[in-house]
Amino acid sequence: MSILARHKILEKNASLLLVFSFLVVTIGGIVQITPLFYLENTIEKVEGVRPYTPLELAGRDVYVREGCYVCHSQMIRPMRDEVERYGHYSLAAESMYDHPFQWGSKRTGPDLARVGGRYSDEWHVDHLTDPQSVVPESIMPKYAFLKDRVIGTDTIAQRLRTDAMVGVPYDDAMIAAAAEDFRAQANPDADAAGLGERYPGAQQRNFDRQPQLTEMDALVAYLQVLGTMVDFSTFEPDAAR
Ligand code: HEC
Repeated sequence: MSILARHKILEKNASLLLVFSFLVVTIGGIVQITPLFYLENTIEKVEGVRPYTPLELAGRDVYVREGCYVCHSQMIRPMRDEVERYGHYSLAAESMYDHPFQWGSKRTGPDLARVGGRYSDEWHVDHLTDPQSVVPESIMPKYAFLKDRVIGTDTIAQRLRTDAMVGVPYDDAMIAAAAEDFRAQANPDADAAGLGERYPGAQQRNFDRQPQLTEMDALVAYLQVLGTMVDFSTFEPDAAR
């Protein structure tokens, strides 16, 4: 029997065809996906990406809890319209410390991967408090209550330890200083030498301009760091990838 004649059996038998198609797709999938777990260069080597500070991490938890990802992606695709609107396309290295990642699959609002530094803290506070006050046609919900939710440091060390368990390089010194760093970042008068050493480039100020430390401080600290870590002078695009 020729190979074509044998193939005819497959073509005439829908169930058999389904089984074999599934087999082919599985093999193809394995060949493509498995190496990504082992290849050294799956995550490109760039400088500047560091783990989140305790305050940014707390802000990120607010972001996840409030479901911001339902309307916002954090993944700029390497297409011209996206790059012109949002900035350099996202690198794998930029979300390597994200657990869980916030790439998202829905853009009711704009991508936020590089929103850090684009607006002032005041703008963010006004916008989160009442989005329509700064963007009249906005359909984003109000998050004014975040300004009234004071956050403490009870669980922040454990929070860092949890991320360390899944591979984020928080060392013992960072975990021990978590509460101190948390408060120092939102207090412009605090000594931030340790914070700056542990988290290079960490921005220190009173993000929501209120005396107490709130979830608004944490969320704005997180938004202001998004997309600002990579030093693009150390990034060499690999055309073969
Ligand atoms: C129902 C969908 C929806 C949800 C949920 C939502 N947003 Fe938005 N967001 C939008 C829309 C639409 C815009 C564009 C209009 C505007 O600027 O308000 C926007 C704009 C923004 C911008 C300005 C981005 C830019 O580049 O101009 C930021 C920052 C932002 N949202 C943060 C958040 C955060 C943080 C949360 C969660 C606390 C959140 N959003 C939840 C819909 C949403």
